[in-house]
Amino acid sequence: MTHGPVSMVHVRAPGKVNVALSVGPKADDGYHELATVFQAVSLYEEVYAHAAREFSVEFTGPIDTSGLTSDDTLVHRAAQLVAAELGGEFPGIRIVVEKHVPIAGGMGGGSADAAATLLACDAIWGVGLSKERLWELAAKLGADVPFALQGGTSLGVGRGDVLSPVLTTGEFGWVLVPSESGLSTPAVYGELDRMRAEGLVPNPESPGVNPEVFAALREGNPSRLCVLLHNDLQAAAYSLAPEREQLARWIADRPNSGVSMISGSGPTIAVLTESRMYAAELARDIRAGGHRAIAVHGPVPGAHFVHDTPADEL
Ligand code: C5P
Repeated sequence: MTHGPVSMVHVRAPGKVNVALSVGPKADDGYHELATVFQAVSLYEEVYAHAAREFSVEFTGPIDTSGLTSDDTLVHRAAQLVAAELGGEFPGIRIVVEKHVPIAGGMGGGSADAAATLLACDAIWGVGLSKERLWELAAKLGADVPFALQGGTSLGVGRGDVLSPVLTTGEFGWVLVPSESGLSTPAVYGELDRMRAEGLVPNPESPGVNPEVFAALREGNPSRLCVLLHNDLQAAAYSLAPEREQLARWIADRPNSGVSMISGSGPTIAVLTESRMYAAELARDIRAGGHRAIAVHGPVPGAHFVHDTPADEL
């Protein structure tokens, strides 16, 4: 945390993959009970914020952000929540979000933006939110936002927002294969409900994570983890985007490929490989086949300040 208002901050927040994602029945509030293991990976959103008279948000970066507007995102809502803590008027701030995590890709990019915005507004406005209060605001913004603050590898239960750290050693080399078009998270959950109602996929009474997953993470053993990767949303994501399943089969046939799965609600495909070196090679191979592919590693830290400049030093 910073002390007193600052005039400019740079906050970095990671995207995530779900190593395991078990979805229970839909609760009365419309959310599904989850048991999931998140891992933060080295594909980051970079959020720059400056003190300003007006409120503004701009999206930039290597991915197409033309569909995003300043007021329909979690960034705006995150800023509003921090402003409400001040009790007065909405103060000005200029926020520039440099996006690297695919939009509507199942990697928590919007959640990373929100987590970074909470930290940035807190610093620029000198609110001094406690860690607990930041966590509460994060949970209001979305089920994955607390994890974007926490980072590392965590078990998430409840809506996925009640977190416990998972002991992990070593590092895991992933290849991310983003899609040109996104999938809406509610639509994927809705498709899972439909498939369950029609008896097409199992319908567990409560979600759970195979304890072997924790052992493989503790050992830092990607070969052991590969065969344990599990995502209940995968069948629903493939049902809505069947071409992704074909692509996953093509990836599985690559030399030295790992095991692929849909990340979160998709449609990004995440491939767990033996090492960072294998991940880099596989990403090159997939790109040579005409698809986008990014080699990353995890776990990495949650949202954090990269640089901040106290006002009196400028
Ligand atoms: O909390 P968040 O905004 O990320 O959730 C988006 C949507 O995903 C929810 O409105 C809900 O339809 C679905 N969801 C769910 N169960 C969860 C998390 C998300 O049904 N645990």
